[in-house]
Amino acid sequence: MDLDLVIRNGCVVTASDIWPSSEIGIKDGKIVVVGSNLAVKDGVEEIDAAGAFITPGGIDTHVHLSQIYEASVSNLNKTQLTNGVIPNLENYTGELYETGTRSAIAGGTTTVITFASQMKGDDSLVPVIEQYHMLADGNSYCDYAFHVIVSNPSETVLKHDLQMMVEKYGITSIKIYMTYKALKLRDYEILDVMHTARKLGIVTMVHAENADVIDWMTEHLEQKGMTAPYHHGTSRPPIVEAEATNRAIVLSELMDTPILLVHISGGQATRIIREAQTRLLPVYGETCPQYLFLLADSMKKEGFEGAKAVCSPPLREDKADQDALWTGINNGTFTTLSSDHAPSNYNHPKGKQLGLTHGGGPQGKFKHIPNGVPGVETRVPLLFTGGILSGRISPRKFVEVTSSNPAKLYGLTNKGTIAPGFDADLVIWYPQKDFKPFNLTNEMLNHAIDYTPYEGMEFKNWPRYTIIRGKVCSRDLQNSTSPLKSVTIYGIKSGSDPLFLLHGFPQTHHIWHKTAPQLSKTFTVIAVDLR
Ligand code: URP
Ligand code: ZN
Ligand code: ZN
Ligand code: ZN
Repeated sequence: MDLDLVIRNGCVVTASDIWPSSEIGIKDGKIVVVGSNLAVKDGVEEIDAAGAFITPGGIDTHVHLSQIYEASVSNLNKTQLTNGVIPNLENYTGELYETGTRSAIAGGTTTVITFASQMKGDDSLVPVIEQYHMLADGNSYCDYAFHVIVSNPSETVLKHDLQMMVEKYGITSIKIYMTYKALKLRDYEILDVMHTARKLGIVTMVHAENADVIDWMTEHLEQKGMTAPYHHGTSRPPIVEAEATNRAIVLSELMDTPILLVHISGGQATRIIREAQTRLLPVYGETCPQYLFLLADSMKKEGFEGAKAVCSPPLREDKADQDALWTGINNGTFTTLSSDHAPSNYNHPKGKQLGLTHGGGPQGKFKHIPNGVPGVETRVPLLFTGGILSGRISPRKFVEVTSSNPAKLYGLTNKGTIAPGFDADLVIWYPQKDFKPFNLTNEMLNHAIDYTPYEGMEFKNWPRYTIIRGKVCSRDLQNSTSPLKSVTIYGIKSGSDPLFLLHGFPQTHHIWHKTAPQLSKTFTVIAVDLR
């Protein structure tokens, strides 16, 4: 058979099936056969996956990269945009496409959906999406696409731009916020956006927290001097998420349009989503590893260290919330498990003016701490160790929430499973018996962030190979002195190559940004490839 790559003897896992000792044949970036005893011509690359799981590449549909929160895109004029002027990133404390997508690959994620974020000062979405294309195109190691954050549903946006996002830019999903001063929409505005989303057949992602409750709580905590990082959690207990979740569902039911409640953290919100689903409303849920593996005590560390675990919604006090999330994964309440990778560096070259430490301010006020934790690299391995190997979820459920459902929900119809005709996006794990468990340190990770909230956590497996459209993009060398940093990441950076795809849900099309593989060009080799 005329193949480019054959993977032999692995245990192929999809959301529906497990095939022990299978072989996968790949040609031109696609899976062409899943079978046994594949005969190949001389010289074809073969990988022996004996004793290992092979899973579809991770699809992380909630990743914040190169997100410029302060400035509005409107500050750049049209000529600057077309000339490729990129906003000044000197004051930027987060993750850029280059490091974020490298980190994704090293952790078994082959596709990310990131955000193009409109700010209140932007009247139109067009310069916003153009700007994020400029930030991403040519800087991304893995496949990527965009959601658009709508924070100013102006007449231009509602009457014109959203339709253009769908038709010209292939956007099938928007995110709206019920909290954060810079982003939040009133219920009236939410109805406006949902009304338009309904007409266009796109999905609305909702960040559901009650902004007024958070403001009231924050002010009253401050009056009592309760401003340490830990009180970020005190200011927004689970009921704050539950109320907004319920309100978002009511608004979407009224408008009869699908919504996805993102980064759900608590049992109450989980049960509200479940109840709506039993009424057959098109309500979907997403949760994240930080809520499954961390609790609020992570915000209680020495000094200002707790700032490293500040995200919104916050980590919860009660293990019962974690248990409810695991139940929600197993009973299908949660469609996707995403990272919500939204980190800021703890320290910044500009000292205490920027980064998480800036959040301390002179008095150490939690309300100044930038929200969000890093996790694009750890998402899939955490769920492998803490989900599959701990017996909390099955291997098939693991594939469903990390890859297959994300692909289906956002219309990536050629991704998310292992079958002929699909993109050869694959993760080959270590044979369990061969893997030496290790304790994670931030230095091992490939992101550009100076901490991980999972510092010290034990991992019992890790992606050995990450393959994107038939090309081996990372290869872990577990025996090296620095386990994950020994990953060899082959460059697949290139310009965009938009491709129209049929879209599974809802019925629109999707422009897909491919990063054409150029394996001859190795961008970053951290360790020698010992294969
Ligand atoms: O704390 C978080 N998650 N910040 C990032 C922005 C968001 O709401 O997803
Ligand atoms: Zn682009
Ligand atoms: Zn959010
Ligand atoms: Zn987010």
